[in-house]
Amino acid sequence: MKFFVDTAEIDEIRELENTGLVDGVTTNPSLINKSGRNFFEVVREISSLVDGPVSAEVASTDFDTMLKEGQKLAEIATNIAVKVPLTRAGLRTCKLLSDNGTMVNVTLCFSANQAILAAKAGARFISPFVGRLDDIANDGMDLISDICDIYANYPNFSTEVLVASVRSPMHVVEAAKIGADVATVPPSVLHQMFSHPLTDKGLADFTSDWEKTGQSIL
Ligand code: E4P
Repeated sequence: MKFFVDTAEIDEIRELENTGLVDGVTTNPSLINKSGRNFFEVVREISSLVDGPVSAEVASTDFDTMLKEGQKLAEIATNIAVKVPLTRAGLRTCKLLSDNGTMVNVTLCFSANQAILAAKAGARFISPFVGRLDDIANDGMDLISDICDIYANYPNFSTEVLVASVRSPMHVVEAAKIGADVATVPPSVLHQMFSHPLTDKGLADFTSDWEKTGQSIL
């Protein structure tokens, strides 16, 4: 399973990138707004910091402008995945950009039907939003399971299932059990994944017992 970090904060990305566990980054207009920084500057910095795909989202909703925005974003770096919404204009843009070799991440997916269309449009990633489905009392993970099952029926679909709107470490575990390709995880959730109180206690005991031996490894 690949981990993308769901943030536009450079310091957070740098800190997690150092672990060697980060396979990519996703941003969206809300995260860019939260960063308070210039969109192009942030995306350029992230794409030079991380080798894997960096999602940068178009802002317009009509096809002509969306396509131009997508082409401009794709020029920032070779690891940019242009993010388009799951609309008719978005999928039309996805098809054209994908046919030209640009990675496209189709976002705001809330149904299996939408995911089928995105795969047919050549998307590199489909982003179903589990947290936002849970928020309205639908089981987001049921959607991940349906999409993974459907894509497995069609080996010519090369679209990766990118679990988005992740809110907790349990979302990551459930997505991994289903076999989703990628989870894009907020930094806070990724940090939580490292932690277990028994690890902390065990390490404190081992450290104190080692000190008592009076020995040193180096
Ligand atoms: C990432 O690609 C999505 O934009 C993001 O995961 C959405 O998360 P949210 O529902 O917590 O805003």
